[in-house]
Amino acid sequence: MSDLVTLLSTGAPVAAAAGGAALARERYPRLYWSTVGLPWSATRLLTTYGSVMEACGLTVPPSRLRALAVRATTRREVRPVPPRRGLVRPTATGLRVRLRLAPGQEVADLAAATERLRHAWSVHAVHVAEVKPGVAELRLVGFDVLNDVRMPKTSGDGFLRVPVALREDATPFVRDYRTVPHQLTLGATLSGKSMYLRHLVAGLAPQRVALVGIDCKRGVELAPFAPRLSALATDPAEAAELLPALVGLMEERYDLIRARQRDNGATPDVWGLPEEERRVPVVVFVDEVAELFLTATRKDEERRDELVTHLVRLAQLGRAAGIYLEVCGQRFGAELGKGATMLRAQLTGRVCHRVNDEASAKMALGDIAPEAVMAACAIPAERPGLAVAADSSGRWARIRTPYLSLTDAATHCAIHAHRAPTLPALARFRPVVSTAVESAPAGS
Ligand SMILES: Nc1ncnc2c1ncn2[C@@H]1O[C@H](COP(=O)(O)OP(=O)(O)OP(=O)(O)O)[C@@H](O)[C@H]1O
Ligand SMILES: [Mg+2]
Repeated sequence: MSDLVTLLSTGAPVAAAAGGAALARERYPRLYWSTVGLPWSATRLLTTYGSVMEACGLTVPPSRLRALAVRATTRREVRPVPPRRGLVRPTATGLRVRLRLAPGQEVADLAAATERLRHAWSVHAVHVAEVKPGVAELRLVGFDVLNDVRMPKTSGDGFLRVPVALREDATPFVRDYRTVPHQLTLGATLSGKSMYLRHLVAGLAPQRVALVGIDCKRGVELAPFAPRLSALATDPAEAAELLPALVGLMEERYDLIRARQRDNGATPDVWGLPEEERRVPVVVFVDEVAELFLTATRKDEERRDELVTHLVRLAQLGRAAGIYLEVCGQRFGAELGKGATMLRAQLTGRVCHRVNDEASAKMALGDIAPEAVMAACAIPAERPGLAVAADSSGRWARIRTPYLSLTDAATHCAIHAHRAPTLPALARFRPVVSTAVESAPAGS
């Protein structure tokens, strides 16, 4: 009886603590990480570093000098050496540690062992990034940061840079228009494309940038941001007028750059113009690009060809004139007709949300990062906003946008409405913002 009482008095609190920890891990992963996970994983890393590296095949034979020194000073057996380790730095989501690669090792060797390392140190995931030649950083992530996305406080924003999503290694994914001028965002319906655009619009709203929208779903996605837009087209007919106006603006800017080259010397783009003459950058958002390609009649076909030619010209030449494209759609392949693959080839950045088939993922990623195609196909429907981002360097990562409601984004745009630049060439496309409340007729 007394044994039973002892068992109950010690076992019950232990069981309660274990249950509480499991619940905290599930419900409050951040709190769990900073109180339990971090000390536990850091201790394991520090105490088992050498043996884990050896077990993972990440050690190299010691140099002859080292072997001699060990033999001369101790009677110990000469053991293989792991990469030299830097300080272990804790973060709100994981741990970071820099490693100096041993001679003969490359970053890919560490990358191949990440699955084994994560089990050895009890963390959710391990990622590897090259810091500089010979130095790699191990990024240990304590829990699934893409489950409930929270952007880090310092996320690298700046002029024409928008931290739009979080990578799975807990670093921000920054959409930087100066390095990747044009981007294609693909995904099935309800996969999170418009949420991605919403973040970009909200992120650019406080900056000195003109925002232009082409939303052939009659403006349902972009019209709420009308106060901050310098131009908006809500159907293919309007887009067919807006795009030539944008090409005209681009040509005007090229003429200006050419004129200044004659006066002041060489400048290859708008950024080299004197400050007072520098033109405001224009970001063109196209939601559901396929709508611009589809035609019903032969007359439409002519319009389509013109429209696509303008888009291709903007993608080819726009960057130097400070015009950037953000194109978004469900599929974007040769089946859309003439010009589709040519336009796609100009869109350097690629983000692929959940897709319904492998062919769609290949349209987004197949030509630049073939290994990312399978990762895109594995995105589950219950995780909208999750995507695979790649660029022409072949690198790719899983990313997810934080949730941002349409109302919050629209309010943010309304607050920054006074920053919307007026571009005379686009003035007639400026959306009329009505503050009057519309009342629906009875019975409608
Ligand atoms: N990062 C996210 N976190 C949570 N919910 C999200 C996220 N991204 C999107 N969603 C939700 O998923 C749903 C679909 O998102 P969204 O409208 O962006 O999809 P879409 O790809 O543009 O779809 P469609 O092609 O039909 O326009 C919305 O209800 C949105 O609130
Ligand atoms: Mg959408």
